[in-house]
Amino acid sequence: MISAFGKVILVGEHAVVHGHPALAAAIDRTVVARFEGRPSGPISLSVPHWNLTAAAGEASALGEALAIVAREVGADHLSVSLHAIAELPPGAGLGSSAALLVAVTRALAAAAGRRLPPERIEEIATAGERCFHGTPSGIDVALASRGGVGLFRRGSGLSMIPAPPIELAVGLTGEPRRTGDMVARVKASLDARPQETGALLAELGRRAEEAAGAIAHGELGALAAHMTRAQQILAGLGLSTRGIDALCDAAARAGASAAKLTGAGGGGAVIALAPGRTGEVVAAWRSLGREAFAVTAGG
Ligand code: MEV
Repeated sequence: MISAFGKVILVGEHAVVHGHPALAAAIDRTVVARFEGRPSGPISLSVPHWNLTAAAGEASALGEALAIVAREVGADHLSVSLHAIAELPPGAGLGSSAALLVAVTRALAAAAGRRLPPERIEEIATAGERCFHGTPSGIDVALASRGGVGLFRRGSGLSMIPAPPIELAVGLTGEPRRTGDMVARVKASLDARPQETGALLAELGRRAEEAAGAIAHGELGALAAHMTRAQQILAGLGLSTRGIDALCDAAARAGASAAKLTGAGGGGAVIALAPGRTGEVVAAWRSLGREAFAVTAGG
């Protein structure tokens, strides 16, 4: 049984695609993979919770990702069935595809009898993730693989922060969206208004660094201020939706000190920081008919 973590980005999504730092934490919801040999046939994968099956090499994003991972770990000659148990909702910005790919990469490396260093596992899983969205920064894969909480920067990777775990409420808007489309929206805005958009992305990066300093000292009030401003900036970039805004408003009414989209936006998940009132936020979101749960981030 081989597992990998889901994640939340606290401050800095999208900025991280453009070279700025982002602050992110693994959450206590995982994808667990196991494998068994079979007499013949291509490598196959089933994820019952996501209603998903694929075979390596078939014409789908997951089939292509499986083929890349199998080749890179040296398992492409094997006949193996992979089964994954996913505690994460798919496509909500909680790092589901990265967690699946890290777990699958580790499982196939084990099936092939290879011991690979974490950097190599992450490189291979990131190559697989490109089949889902073109230019992943690597932040999701780094958290899926390493856990904890850290400041991630493209190129230099994840610097861990010694901080106590943070309790968060997670609410799902239920609005479908694609990370690649949201990344393209920010790129279009950067092309159209380079100075203005560039300054906003740089501000997100600066705030991610300051928020990292704050959580290292247990200053959740400062973290909340950075999260609130991050949501304003992301909304200004066209990444919020009525569903996200409704969850943020309901969280504030239930006593949260901050709420924001997490991941690519355009739908997906909202996180709320509500020390001592996480349960109230989760209940408020459920009363709106939304799926919601509490997580421990960075534990
Ligand atoms: C990652 O969960 C969300 C984005 O920052 C894309 C990326 O970093 O690959 C929008």
